[in-house]
This record gives sequence, C-alpha cells and structure tokens, in this order.
Amino acid sequence: MMRTNYCGALSTDQIDQTITLCGWVDRRRDHGGVIFIDLRDREGIVQVVFDPDTEEHFERADTVRGEYVIQVTGRVRARAAATVNADMATGEIEVLGKELVILNKSETPPFQLDTHTEVGEDVRLKYRFLDLRRNDIQDRLRLRSDITSSIRRFLDGQGFLDIETPILTRETPEGARDYLVPSRTHEGKFFALPQSPQLFKQLLMVSGMDRYYQIARCFRDEDLRADRQPEFTQIDIEASFVDQDDIMSITEEMVRGLFKEVLDVDLPELPRMTYEESVRRFGIDRPDLRIPLELIDIKDLLTEVEFKVFSGPANDPKGRIAAVKVPGGNDKLTRKQIDAYTKFVGIYGAKGLAYIKVNDKDDLENGLQSPIVKFLPNEARQGILERVGAENGDLIFFGADKTKIVNESLAALRVKLGEDLDLIESEWAPVWVVDFPMFEEDGKGGLTPLHHPFTAPACSAEELKAAPENALSVAYDMVLNGTELGGGSIRIHDGDMQQTVFEVLGIGEEEQREKFGFLLDALKFGAPPHGGLAFGLDRLVMLMTGAKSIRDVIAFPKTQSAGCMMTDAPGAVSTHHLNELNIRLRKKEKKEPSENT
Ligand code: AMO
Ligand code: AMP
Repeated sequence: MMRTNYCGALSTDQIDQTITLCGWVDRRRDHGGVIFIDLRDREGIVQVVFDPDTEEHFERADTVRGEYVIQVTGRVRARAAATVNADMATGEIEVLGKELVILNKSETPPFQLDTHTEVGEDVRLKYRFLDLRRNDIQDRLRLRSDITSSIRRFLDGQGFLDIETPILTRETPEGARDYLVPSRTHEGKFFALPQSPQLFKQLLMVSGMDRYYQIARCFRDEDLRADRQPEFTQIDIEASFVDQDDIMSITEEMVRGLFKEVLDVDLPELPRMTYEESVRRFGIDRPDLRIPLELIDIKDLLTEVEFKVFSGPANDPKGRIAAVKVPGGNDKLTRKQIDAYTKFVGIYGAKGLAYIKVNDKDDLENGLQSPIVKFLPNEARQGILERVGAENGDLIFFGADKTKIVNESLAALRVKLGEDLDLIESEWAPVWVVDFPMFEEDGKGGLTPLHHPFTAPACSAEELKAAPENALSVAYDMVLNGTELGGGSIRIHDGDMQQTVFEVLGIGEEEQREKFGFLLDALKFGAPPHGGLAFGLDRLVMLMTGAKSIRDVIAFPKTQSAGCMMTDAPGAVSTHHLNELNIRLRKKEKKEPSENT
C-alpha cells in the first residue's frame, strides 16, 4: 500500500506515529522558511509542515503547486494551542513532513476548488473531475452510497429480489418523451430507453417473482428543472398479492428506517391527505407542510360584486378565488415586496395579486388598506375577514382566475412566502397523498392518465366508462417538504379492465396490440393482483443532503439543455455510422441572408 492513513481521518489518536499519506495539494503556503501544505484526500484535509531541516524534501515541497499528487511520510504531532484550527476536522494536529514524493504534477486548474462558487456551473461541469475533488460534493456522493446500501439491506431483508430489466426496449407511457436508439439490425426501427421499468416489473409479477426491486436508471426527454434530469435513478419496487396499505406501510418503514440509519432523524409519522384536500388547501398535489399558510376559498362571497377581477371567476364554474392570509404580514411586507410577489405569480399566469392589509378589522371603511377594497361592498369585506379569520396586522393575498392558474400561482406563492418570511415550522414534513383522480384533461378534448394507464381505478369498469372524469384511482404519492419523492399504485391485473382504460384514453384496438400486446397477453395468463411504487433516488438524496439541485448529488449530471459539458454529449455521428443505421439527416435550411447581417 502506498499509504498508511487517510488525511482526513487523522486525529490526536495518531500523535507521535510515523505515517504515510497520499493526496492532492489543496494549498501550499510559504511562511518565512516553513512550508505548509494542506493535503486533501477523500476523507478530508490535513496540514503538513516541512521545515528546512529536511533539505531535499523541503526543496521539493517548495516546488509543489495546487492539485499536485504527492506522497508524504511524516510524524503526527499536536498543534500548539494558539494554532489549533477549530474549523478543521483535523485542526488539533499536523504532520511534520520528513519525505515528499511527487507522484504527479498538475497544470494550474481552471478554478480554485475552495473558491469554486466564483466560477459558473458550466466551468465546473466541464471540469467535473476536478469539481468532484471537493469534499462537500464527495460527502454527498458518499451519503448517496450509504442511502442505496441501506435501502438494499432493507429490501433484501424483506424478501425483495433485485432483478434487472432492459434498457433497450419499447416506448413506456409515463407521460414524457422517449429517448430513441436506432437499430442497425432492424432497418428503420428504433429502441426506446425506458422512462421507468413499469411494464417489466408488472410482467415479473405475472411471472410469480412476488417481490421485486431495482435501483433502476430511467430516461425521460422532458423540460429540465432543479429536480429533474433526463436520466435519473429510481428505487423501483413491486409486489404481488398486496393492497395499497401494504405498499404504503412497507415503503414508509423503508424511508423512516433510512432516515434513522443514515441521518439519525426520526421522521414524523406520515399523515394521509386526499388529492382533493391537498389541492384545495395548498393548490398542489405535493404540499410543503412545513409552511403553515393555506389557500382559503372565498368564491361564494363574491358572485354579486361589481369588481370584474373577482366577479368573473366567481361566476365561472372553472374559476377559483382563494385567499392566503399571512399572519402579521402587514409589517413584514413592504409595497416593493408585494410588487415583487405580483411579478412572481405572473410566472404562473396570474394577472395580478390583490391584497388587503388589515389595520383595524372592526373598521370596514377605513381600517383596510388595499387597492381593491374600494370595489367591494362592506358585506364582502366582512365575509372575507371572517372566512380567513383575520386579525389586525395580517396581510391577505388573493388569487382570482381559472382554477389551474390560481392553484399554481398561490401554491408557489405560499412556498416563497414561507421561505422569505422564515415561516418554516419543522425540518421534515412528509405526507402521503392518496385518492388521485384516474384522469385529467389533456387540453385537446381528451383524457390523459394522472399516473400511468396501468393504474387500477377505485371503481368498476362500468362506472369508469360512465364518468371517467370523476373516477378515482388506487394511486399514492409520498411527498416530503414539497417534493414528490415517489409515486405508485395498485395495477390493473384484469385484461378487460385494462382494455376499458385504454378505450377511455382513446387508444384503439390496433394501437393497443401494437404497443401493449405483450402486456394484454400477460394479463390473460393468470396475472396476480399486484402493485408497487418508485422513489426518485436523486430527489431523496437531494433532500437528505440539503442540496439545492439533483445535479449536486449526481456524479456526472447533464445541463439544463440535457447535454454533458465534459464529454460534449450528445455528439455528431459519422456519415458511415449513419449509413449503417440507414439514417440520413435532413439538410439544415440555408440561413437567410438577413440573419448574417
Ligand atoms: P413516476 O413517473 O411518478 O412513477 O416516477 C417516480 C419518481 O421518480 C422521480 N422522477 C424523477 N427524478 C428526477 N428526474 C426526473 N426527470 C424524474 N421523473 C420522475 C420522482 C417520482 O416521484 N413507474 C411509476 C412508478 C410506479 O407506479 O411504481 C413511475 O415511474 O421522484
Ligand atoms: P386592476 O383592476 O387590473 O388594476 O387590478 C386591481 C388589483 O387587483 C391589483 O392589485 C391587481 O394586482 C389585482 N388583480 C388583478 N387581477 C387579479 C387576479 N386575476 N387575481 C388576483 N388579483 C388580481
């Protein structure tokens, strides 16, 4: 072995021992004839001191630069009280260097690791191999590894079998666009990369595997955000002869055990909330329950008012008017901040953000400060104050529009207010959201599944056909701090029911055969009742490490435009290769002359 210890693992236990370390030069400083090297490895940083007594090695120490890889042999000693560094895990000790070997040099890195925040993320992603040398990101990847091994231990112990499913496959209807891979051996045909192992895990249940799991890579060509990557990892779970409560309790036990084991956190019990309640109270199906603000419906109070902003949605069956009361918000929010929030809700399509500052709730004439009260009769003013339980000093925001816009804008506003005004009440607020609708409108006059088309309805096939828009499903999501951690459902195991769902979705018989023939066949040969769930591993790690984006918990993530800065993927392909695949690229349109001027 080239070393005896890790730099970051040294402590006062090793005092007076002679040790050998290998690592990277984090920093080198010359202090009046003494050279200090901060040496870094996976476990952390330790200070190594070379003094001129060790002539040859001292001179070599003088030549090392940032990111050189060196091997140091020396003696661990306690630091003098005045030089103890409380900010450093190894700050009570240092290594008096005796020998130094340069294992490899480094060019000047494109950015200093300790000032990485000063360069753009693009630069860090281009040199990801350097960015990954930082201890904080290494710690996150280590925690990720702890998380997967804890999960594997739990699921192995519960009799789940780890089974791999294909990456080269057919399209999966999870609602995003598929990544396609051309086939050389089947001219003009394409594989799709799986959006999830959904169909295969169901087929494994038909096969009698009984309990399956996989830490599975999934691919979705969709718009990216902080919590979405084009390839990401699921903890994918499926079991036979189970109902919704079985899946929920086993996965809840898994997640609670994980938090205890890895973070020593006792996650609170997970309350259950219906989709309807969640959307009504929080405007969204993944409520952040750390924040005490809620949406309060006031539509019924405003049908008669003349103010068009309110009377329009009040009389529109698809409209919603909701209030969000910020207790004590009167003093906390300036006019300028309110204007900023008005702009913020505009992102979600809101045309404005009416508000009332409650100075004196008993004085309806002069006690309310607001750009809109002048349009509201006293009766409406009184009704609103009572409905939201207003106290003097409160500030009330209003959203009035189509339900979708009010929900999305106020859901985002309540989270933003919660963060800005420091209203977050607890560190962890998990919740199960249940009783999802089967379908939602697809905006083109049809229906689309809220989860996926293999989810079992909570009603009979006849009821489903009669009123699909009212049908609920046996689907459930686990939500943590406003992030959808995982989702699943009990599946349809009956071929006729599956066909009914396809019909409701407008998928004709031919298309059913062509796309899902194998599933419909499997359902004919003794498919057991089954169900499951998949967690987004990246999101779980993001929350557990406190990272802002899943990019920070993935070793080699993609950018916002779904590319890799480091490898430059996706890349161009040679004509020869394209010919082999029988693919001809459409010629790029010639640029209009005006574009060049
Ligand atoms: P769903 O589509 O809800 O369900 O995905 C399950 C979980 O995967 C995570 N996730 C993502 N994470 C990062 N980037 C993405 N682009 C991304 N998309 C999804 C989320 C989500 O909750 N087959 C079903 C599961 C089932 O029914 O068992 C499925 O894939 O955390
Ligand atoms: P306007 O009549 O557009 O000048 O708006 C009067 C007040 O109502 C302003 O404070 C706007 O921010 C607010 N407002 C306008 N449209 C909406 C809306 N759809 N929802 C909530 N408030 C709105």
